[in-house]
Amino acid sequence: MRATAEANPNIALIKYWGKADAALNLPVTGSLSLTLDTAPTRTTVELDSAIADDELVLSGVAQTGRSLERVRRFLDLVRDESGSTVKSRVDSVNLIPTGAGLASSASAFAALAAAASAAYGLDLDDRALSRLARRGSGSASRSIFGGVVRWFPGDDASSFAEPVDSTGLDLAMVVAVIDAGEKSISSTEAMNRTTATSPFYPAWAESTTRQLDEMLRAIARADFTAVGELTESNSLRMHATMAGAWPPVRYQRAASIALIDAAAELRAAGVEAYATMDAGPNVKFLCRPVDADRVEAHLAATDPSARFLSARAGEGVRLVDEAATA
Ligand code: DP6
Repeated sequence: MRATAEANPNIALIKYWGKADAALNLPVTGSLSLTLDTAPTRTTVELDSAIADDELVLSGVAQTGRSLERVRRFLDLVRDESGSTVKSRVDSVNLIPTGAGLASSASAFAALAAAASAAYGLDLDDRALSRLARRGSGSASRSIFGGVVRWFPGDDASSFAEPVDSTGLDLAMVVAVIDAGEKSISSTEAMNRTTATSPFYPAWAESTTRQLDEMLRAIARADFTAVGELTESNSLRMHATMAGAWPPVRYQRAASIALIDAAAELRAAGVEAYATMDAGPNVKFLCRPVDADRVEAHLAATDPSARFLSARAGEGVRLVDEAATA
């Protein structure tokens, strides 16, 4: 009747940008990400037959409006599967608030999927959990697993994520935080607008499918340089596709572009760092763990007002024994 779960954010190296089915959150293409070892979301779901509707508290603040509606719709899916009609109290916190805008919908819905399915007595394996998390937010399907993770396109039954063996690849991610505030336009709305109006969208989908295949081959041979180049290229292509939407979607700011240039400078100096951006102005750099300090130092010199966060590969979602952690 009550369960707590934790999940970490993930950053896509090959991006999910566009839905084939908005109700089921089925992606147009496959994608691939790295689950980070920082900024976990911890969520408790407790059934309460005395309340008339689900309640949501985020970092101690009771929610109304869209975030509450999104969680209620998600809990309805869990209730449909479990046969229960009992409403729940959901309490969610970001355990290590990084102020990096990393408290993403990915970690949030992965933690909610695990906590809610356990609280309602569903016994889901990781694949079923990934499919469930996908319904809350597409990228959440990937935060069920640790390390490098691939999410398949397909139908409701076949669109889930699974871990990818990345033996021989030691990956680090340096996050440059330009602005920790709310994004100007949500990823959901931005990707729908891009799909509907950007003439570049079909090329994006085709190119991403090809780059995902290349990425899987690069990972299999532990080719760090190819992994990095594909990461940066795929991100630039995603943002170029958005620029072709109308009204245009642009997350890149002047400061973001300067940091992307700094990655090229690092490479010219012999330090491999590759930039990637999501639905916000912050820039993430894929590099080797041994280079992380040097990468951060050069980026800090480029943008003295940015804040930095350094992460490695992290673990997948887990249930938390509250008695043990109390
Ligand atoms: C740019 O998973 O947030 O981070 O499914 O509508 O909730 P919804 O979208 P969301 O989109 C993530 C977009 C991205 C790329 C990625 O993580 O693959």
